Amino acid sequence: MNQVKSILKDFYDIDISGVLPQQGGWASLAYKVLNKNQSYFLKVYEKSRASTPKLTALIDQYVPILVWLINNSSLNGKITVPLITNSGEYKCEDENAIYLLYDYIEGETIGDRDLTDDQVHQFSKIITELHSYEDIPIGTDAIKEDFDVPFIQSLRQKLKNGREDLQDDVWTIINSCISPLNNLIQTVEVLSQNLKNCDLRMALCHTDLHYWNLMQSGQGLILIDWEGLKLAPVEADLMFLVDKPYFAEFLSVYQNTTHRNFEINPHVLKFYQGRRRLEDIWEFIEQLLYDEQDEQERYLTKNYLRKELNSIGGNFKF
Ligand SMILES: Nc1ncnc2c1ncn2[C@@H]1O[C@H](COP(=O)(O)OP(=O)(O)OP(=O)(O)O)[C@@H](O)[C@H]1O
Ligand SMILES: [Mg+2]
Repeated sequence: MNQVKSILKDFYDIDISGVLPQQGGWASLAYKVLNKNQSYFLKVYEKSRASTPKLTALIDQYVPILVWLINNSSLNGKITVPLITNSGEYKCEDENAIYLLYDYIEGETIGDRDLTDDQVHQFSKIITELHSYEDIPIGTDAIKEDFDVPFIQSLRQKLKNGREDLQDDVWTIINSCISPLNNLIQTVEVLSQNLKNCDLRMALCHTDLHYWNLMQSGQGLILIDWEGLKLAPVEADLMFLVDKPYFAEFLSVYQNTTHRNFEINPHVLKFYQGRRRLEDIWEFIEQLLYDEQDEQERYLTKNYLRKELNSIGGNFKF
């Protein structure tokens, strides 16, 4: 409480009357912070976590773009509102953590539920609008897609070394799917090289469009968690929508005025779907190799890994 209190006072000049821990994501803590008239959502990235440098590196690049969108687009009211510190910074920090402050959204996270027809319509409008911004007066170089797959060499090496590098139980799981996995790595690598040399239209993309990042509030649907904001081919977002039962409806909104002649580029879509799969697989392997896990956590991670590997068989060949 005291730590949060002094952060709010020192950096935002807000006197708080209460702090309620919230269910954060896997990589950060979160608090609902109250003062007399208003509530705030404080996201806390502890410096002790290995993932913090990666997740916080681009705050100064993506938060100003969010602020620009709030001030210059009709996304105002439909996206999270970050608050700026007294000295005009987009984040603040002390020896323990890096902090980001947002307006608190009174509402419910969609999570495991399906979207209603009305929510599908609102969601489609939000994505349609977001994808209309390709050239904005705020720097986007740092968040521009480069089609890199930075972990692919490490993954390849681990698979090559097999039992030498991986515990027996992990290797058994991987080895049962080694051929489709190697095919997927090969496919993604070729696509990555090809796409680096293509001149593709890029627009602002959220890149993490699952329903834990969507909230229903009194005034409508709000898209949150903009850590992955990128200037990228729109397939970076559409990969989350192509398998939804409402995709045709989404496209009719999308193509209605703004993106009239839009067609999905199947190579780009395949790259994003493949890279995401590999990213998840690599994340699980890393957890099993390096994280301190108890038996139950390890069991769960192995199940996730098994499920992810089973789903790639045959899907990603040219
Ligand atoms: N401004 C807000 N007001 C109220 N609740 C929020 C707000 N922002 C996020 N939440 C809630 O907190 C949850 C986690 O937030 P968020 O999606 O931003 O973090 P995350 O990226 O998933 O976490 P991590 O960065 O650790 O992976 C959301 O699913 C939502 O329920
Ligand atoms: Mg999230």
